[in-house]
Amino acid sequence: MNVRIRRTTGKGAAARDAVAARPFHYRGRGLCCDGVSLEELATEYGTPLYVYSAEQIRYRFGLFQAAFAGREATVCYAVKANSSLAILRLLAELGAGFDIVSGGELERVRRASGQKNKAALGRVVFSGAGKQEWEIDAALKAGILLFNVESEAELELLAARAEALGVRARFALRVNPDVFAETHPYISTGLGSHKFGVEIGNARAIYGRAARRKWLDAAGVSVHIGSQIRAVGPFAKALERVAGLVEELRSDGHEIRYVDAGGGLGIDYNDSPTEPKFDAAGKVREYAVALGKAAAGLGAVHLLVEPGRFVAAQAGGLLTRVVVVKKNGAKTFVIVDAAMNDLIRPALYQAHHEILPVVKGRGASAKVDVVGPVCESGDFFAHDRKMPRVKAGELVLVLDAGAYGMSESSNYNTRARAAEVLVDGAGDGDAGARLIRRRETLRELMAAEIL
Ligand code: LLP
Repeated sequence: MNVRIRRTTGKGAAARDAVAARPFHYRGRGLCCDGVSLEELATEYGTPLYVYSAEQIRYRFGLFQAAFAGREATVCYAVKANSSLAILRLLAELGAGFDIVSGGELERVRRASGQKNKAALGRVVFSGAGKQEWEIDAALKAGILLFNVESEAELELLAARAEALGVRARFALRVNPDVFAETHPYISTGLGSHKFGVEIGNARAIYGRAARRKWLDAAGVSVHIGSQIRAVGPFAKALERVAGLVEELRSDGHEIRYVDAGGGLGIDYNDSPTEPKFDAAGKVREYAVALGKAAAGLGAVHLLVEPGRFVAAQAGGLLTRVVVVKKNGAKTFVIVDAAMNDLIRPALYQAHHEILPVVKGRGASAKVDVVGPVCESGDFFAHDRKMPRVKAGELVLVLDAGAYGMSESSNYNTRARAAEVLVDGAGDGDAGARLIRRRETLRELMAAEIL
């Protein structure tokens, strides 16, 4: 089971074009991930299979580290985007911080960082609108960097638990800056009408009340306006509002040392799969400059950013095999063995994902619907997509599935979850693919049930 499929030819992402937006390229007629044949991976590990490039993840994360290198800053990868232990370990080794939203994600960070990168726990920020007591306790005991608190009631709970455990809790109030960001409504969070954070106008009074609590340390202010936001303007606008609040808080005597700008930087899902134009490095630099300007007046402040999608999405693809091609009236359906339970983004957000045949198409293109076998019409990967003809038994790759793919997967229709493979081309002598999560079995899937 644990064989390594080695790269046959070519160089890794770092040595290739530094702005290559994705790790998937044709070598001859076969699609590869950093030189490793997807056909071979499918034969070895079966489908549906998530395939990730370690080099692309390192490269993407490195863009943020480099862009913020000139100032005091920590890049806290948003674990929810892709929480596979092997990927978290890879990031912990790079010195990543982590943005978590549950006790479960905290446990993942703990396991992934292990003894060797234990310091990673001290770089954890804990976000989320409904933290429970056990989660707060676990985070206090782990000595995380910062609680991003979303309500005054949560602040009360945090104070009580900190007192009970005898540790001071550093917190940042997550404020809602009332900034509009162009994205899907389900993943927009920074408007007054959303459930997240507290109204920025009420923040000063809440900090004032918190200052009387011995076990609370008002260490920062945080903000997060949403996800898949392509323009940097809204991030800057939100941070400017936060900067204004920080000045007021400091004048009230609070020692604000941290400003958490959240995550949300978007990618180009529509970018051409074969000739990508998306300039990831340029985008991250633009983002860092915009945030830097907005925070410029604040003097000594430690900036936190929480990218998730930008690091992981384009580093991964969902490899799936065509089960059957069928025609219904004027429509052609390509039914594959992956489904909405493996990648729910198209169903949930009408998201666009490019799809490539694993053997470069020779036949004429046709308009097809690429769909899964689940019993819902919402189970689709593409509607009316022009792509080269594929036949039953052939493989296709759904691109940009590295973020919010596996982490949002489920067992709907009693389907076992996919396996995951990490292609690591870091060392030239040891380039290959490694299974990082084996396919779930039906026995495991039902293990918790009581008959
Ligand atoms: N920080 C906080 C507090 C968040 O809520 C999120 C994402 C992030 C950081 C990371 O955002 P990113 O850099 O990945 O955009 N499932 C949706 C996205 C949900 C985002 C939820 N929060 C999708 O597939 O588009």
